[in-house]
Amino acid sequence: MKVTRRSWIGMTLSLATTPTLLSAKPRSGYSLVEIEKRLHSGKGIEGMMKDELPTPALLVDLDLLESNIQKMSQHSKASSIQLRPHAKTHKCPEIARRQVQAGGLGVCTSTIHEAEVMAAAGIRDLLITSELVGKNKTERLLRLTSKQPGTMSVVDHATHAEQLNEAAAAAKLTLNVLIDIDPIGRRTGILPGDDALGLAEKIMKLPHLKLRGVHAYSGASSHVPGFEARQEHSHRVMQAPLESFFRMQKAGMPVEIMSGGSTGTYNIDPALKGMTELQTGSYVFMDVDYRRVGGKSGAVYEDFAPSLSVLATVISKNHPDRATVDAGFKAFATDRKFGPEIKGVTGVDYQFNGDEHGALIFSNVSREIRLGDRLEFIVPHCDPNVNLYDRFFCVRGDKVMAVWPVAGRGYS
Ligand SMILES: Cc1ncc(COP(=O)(O)O)c(C=O)c1O
Repeated sequence: MKVTRRSWIGMTLSLATTPTLLSAKPRSGYSLVEIEKRLHSGKGIEGMMKDELPTPALLVDLDLLESNIQKMSQHSKASSIQLRPHAKTHKCPEIARRQVQAGGLGVCTSTIHEAEVMAAAGIRDLLITSELVGKNKTERLLRLTSKQPGTMSVVDHATHAEQLNEAAAAAKLTLNVLIDIDPIGRRTGILPGDDALGLAEKIMKLPHLKLRGVHAYSGASSHVPGFEARQEHSHRVMQAPLESFFRMQKAGMPVEIMSGGSTGTYNIDPALKGMTELQTGSYVFMDVDYRRVGGKSGAVYEDFAPSLSVLATVISKNHPDRATVDAGFKAFATDRKFGPEIKGVTGVDYQFNGDEHGALIFSNVSREIRLGDRLEFIVPHCDPNVNLYDRFFCVRGDKVMAVWPVAGRGYS
């Protein structure tokens, strides 16, 4: 039918006067701008439902998040080891606050920016686990320490220690440092043994640095497939950093912190004599990567539940054996060899199919996938996936309960 101006006016008038259409509450398809406006106006998101959110969207299932935090907290208490969870995973003060309320000593951060965001939100006793080298980062560390004297950072080189000491002297401050010892990864960290002891002796002579302990993170252990193999790996590579820690103690140095561990070794490292705290991160969210390494009790690592997901919509379904969703390279982290997995559906493989597209390839799909379906995906790798989004939509069942900014997003 050809729509003329007159017939269009007639159509809109008839729609406007049709009582059934007027009385039906329209389902709101919110845009991100509208959601932001509601939040800024103080109107909040009360009454908003998950199926009204734009996709792709980053979701946090609050029930699962809370149970993961509780489980890790109970584990640390039962294993007599402290917890300073790593906030690089979530970059979100609301989650850090819950981790501290559950007994965390504070949180770790990877970047000075994450630390600044956490400090501004009132999170204390931060441990920054990457070396802060250069004028920009050193000055920001000093500013942070002047506000929160409990802040700690890591050092793996005598020159870096001297630079920090000099800057701290000029600012009339003392910086708390841990010696970063490399268990095996060749990422950061001084070699264990005489090298680490030499650095410790050097730091002891620098009046504006306070040596608090040792940081030794074995990322190489965290994703070793199979519980026993992971245990063997972690116990083997952590021996040398632990011995260095004991040597520092024997030499009378005031080292009281031995920090390391990951979600993959949370139930392995407490058995290492000398470890004082764990810096587990991914357990709050989980991801495909961790699920694939296997747990103590089976082929899938399910100690913690996948509380993080990306909500996506099936936007094309023209073939019996495949469909397309609106979530591609821009929606998921791409640093792993595999893509995301749909929650609650088996027999379907996700393949990246462009910036905004993902292909679902059916082999023996456990339920029909229809055009317009909204599917939740467990992300391949949680940390970089979170960094792609500005906000978490926090849900309980079908309801959106809160919107939390990924406040420490970005890098520098
Ligand atoms: C230094 C450091 N500590 C702790 C963690 C937390 O590890 P996970 O997320 O595997 O628990 C990471 C993660 O990359 C890390 O880089």
